[in-house]
Amino acid sequence: MTQKPPLLINNPVAYTGTMQTLDEEFTLHRLWKAKDKLTLARSVADACRVIVTPGHDEVPAELLDAAPKLGLVACFGVGYDAIDVPMLTKRGIRVTNTPDVLTEEVADLALALLLAITRRVVKADRYVRSGDWEAKGNMDLTPSLTGGKTVGIVGLGRIGKAIAKRCAAFNLTVVYHGRQAQNDVPYRHYPDLVAMSREVDFLILSCPGGAATRHIVNAAVLAALGPKGILVNVSRGSVVDEAALAPALVSGRLGGAALDVFHKEPCRPFALSELTENVVLSPHQASATHETRGAMGRVMIDNIKAFLAGKTLLTPVN
Ligand code: NAP
Ligand code: 8YV
Repeated sequence: MTQKPPLLINNPVAYTGTMQTLDEEFTLHRLWKAKDKLTLARSVADACRVIVTPGHDEVPAELLDAAPKLGLVACFGVGYDAIDVPMLTKRGIRVTNTPDVLTEEVADLALALLLAITRRVVKADRYVRSGDWEAKGNMDLTPSLTGGKTVGIVGLGRIGKAIAKRCAAFNLTVVYHGRQAQNDVPYRHYPDLVAMSREVDFLILSCPGGAATRHIVNAAVLAALGPKGILVNVSRGSVVDEAALAPALVSGRLGGAALDVFHKEPCRPFALSELTENVVLSPHQASATHETRGAMGRVMIDNIKAFLAGKTLLTPVN
């Protein structure tokens, strides 16, 4: 019987089917279960060439020192904001991610959150269940998504474009902010995020996390969005200055927020949890369907197999 190739795995990937396939096809060394991660890494260092990780979990340099034959960091997820790609490139280590297969799914959740916060869907559900409807009569009216409104997308990449397509179907005018103007899209580009936020009703974040986008949605952007403005975040928690967000929502300086991602996850963001009227919270679920998580797992595993066979990587980052 041929031996299964060994893999180090930083943390579980968020799909049991992929964990099962990994277990069937590889010998998995689970770092999160180890008493001492470096000792485990050293014990498999002779044969282990791949480490698997969720893209938002760091792979520290000392782990790479402990297992110097590692040549691939295979991320589960399109975002790799916790991965130090320049450091890995310098060490000659390749990085792969799982783009495209989750694009439509994430865009769907962005729209679900936009609809949920605008039309107060979660509040309405509570209103019926609690008996308030019977006791108090009709619920308050809500803001509308229609009527010539504008959505600003921060990060008009694969996911941003899929969000834009959906927004256009809702008759929203789409504009966007990113570092570059894109010539092949029909949407207006704003190089300045505050200027764009002044002009839009809804701001949807779909850019990467990391140092370059840290807190780009700050107090000035929230003020520009204003008391009727709504923020939807499916990018990374780090993009928003959470310390500015909660006070803006409490005071009514910002109209509402629907968030799928947070600074520290998992979390129970107390300041936001209290705001049942104008906040909707989601536990990083944008790609979390059976179909899409399965597809992400397949892309990740195909990259690993290609690497081990000396073939071209499917979705290389570096
Ligand atoms: P992508 O195709 O690479 O698009 C990223 C977009 O962000 C590009 O249009 C880029 O445009 C823009 N961007 C990059 N840096 C920026 C900056 N400093 N300021 C403003 N815009 C910037 O990536 P994608 O596949 O759409 O994924 C985007 C992100 O979504 C991921 O990195 C991940 O963080 C997040 N995501 C979240 C979930 C979830 O479960 N919530 C799931 C999947 C992905 P320019 O280069 O012109 O700036
Ligand atoms: C996943 C994500 O939830 O792809 C990404 O960047 O954030 C999500 O698809 C995550 O990678 C699973 O841990």
